[in-house]
Amino acid sequence: MIIGIPKETRPGEARVASTPDVVKKLVARKIEVVVEADAGGASSFPDAEYQAAGAKIVSREEAFAADLVLKVACPSGDEAALLKNGALLVSMIDPFGDGAALIDTLAAAGVSCIGMELIPRITRAQAMDVLSSQANVAGYRAVIEAAHAYGKLFPMMMTAAGSVPPSMCIVLGVGVAGLQAIATARRIGAQVEAFDVRPEVREQVQSVGAKWLDLGLGETGAGEGGYAKELSDEGKRLQKEALTRAIPKADIVITTAQIPGRPAPVLVTEEAVANMRPGSVIVDMAAGSGGNCPLSEPDAIVVKHGVTIIGHTNLPSAVANHSSRFFARNLNSLLELIVVAEGDAPPSVKYDLDDEIVDAALVAHDGAKRWPKKKES
Ligand code: NAI
Repeated sequence: MIIGIPKETRPGEARVASTPDVVKKLVARKIEVVVEADAGGASSFPDAEYQAAGAKIVSREEAFAADLVLKVACPSGDEAALLKNGALLVSMIDPFGDGAALIDTLAAAGVSCIGMELIPRITRAQAMDVLSSQANVAGYRAVIEAAHAYGKLFPMMMTAAGSVPPSMCIVLGVGVAGLQAIATARRIGAQVEAFDVRPEVREQVQSVGAKWLDLGLGETGAGEGGYAKELSDEGKRLQKEALTRAIPKADIVITTAQIPGRPAPVLVTEEAVANMRPGSVIVDMAAGSGGNCPLSEPDAIVVKHGVTIIGHTNLPSAVANHSSRFFARNLNSLLELIVVAEGDAPPSVKYDLDDEIVDAALVAHDGAKRWPKKKES
């Protein structure tokens, strides 16, 4: 079987779906790997490294004509048209957004598709979890972006010319991205307070050196499978009010709150922004899914009420080399499950629909779409 790795074409996407170290592992399993010329260029993986790992450098059309195509971003319509009947596409698919229509197209063309965002967050699938690996990088990068845009120091500094106190950072939403943002802000010297609607993360917040921001909501948003559920209307109102009081004391606010498949909750109101000190910085990591701050704009940096609001939607791409390494290893862990060689036969894709990982993430197969998933009654 042939695995193809095309160059990503979405504007601003510098990552690549597989890296030379992973290609070497695939080749060792007697899988042929073809890589589009310069696929890894933007993430500092030159063609020569792929060749040394055993891959063949090919044209765009040849990379998309493989039996199994690995991608980072959801393919465009033109790219999807290059996939052959019977092929498998493994990629982020944006199933709650634009990807929904693409899934129809793929199914009609007889292309199977695994959407990497849909890999369940279970222990056995941890090594395949691209959302976590990329959110980790994004949480780190969000703080670096904030530090870059902020005209003051993060750490306390005592010099012969006087001293300055540490900056104060509030992190809202303490999932993977939030926890990494806290750890990074602490490492470069900020004081950090954090809040999440799931009270069970309080200990994790404290274990990385931050203070729990107690909003006294009287209700929790703890949902199933470690995810949050939406607060009641009253809970949302109380949260907004409490945050509008708490946020103005922060120099930096990093927001990462989301509930899968729902618009991001509004946490930082215009009133809160207007009451922040001039020069403060907000990084709205949810800017791509509606935003935790109504003033943020996707993929833009805006200044409102003297506060810089950063809405980058692809922070992992800004750290493309390491993000790609993690992404490629996540994909390889999935391939170890689904690409099998029985006896002396060459390796091929085995679709075990009884496996909960395959069942959850396979969105198109055998000419039919398997998305949206039917809820069990
Ligand atoms: P996650 O699901 O692990 O964490 C989200 C957290 O938000 C959960 O802990 C949840 O309990 C919390 N939350 C939900 N509603 C809340 C509320 N009303 N108040 C406070 N907390 C609330 O998600 P992950 O992987 O950490 O990603 C976080 C966000 O960052 C998502 O919006 C994701 O789309 C975004 N993201 C953005 C990137 C970028 O480049 N801008 C890259 C990667 C992720």
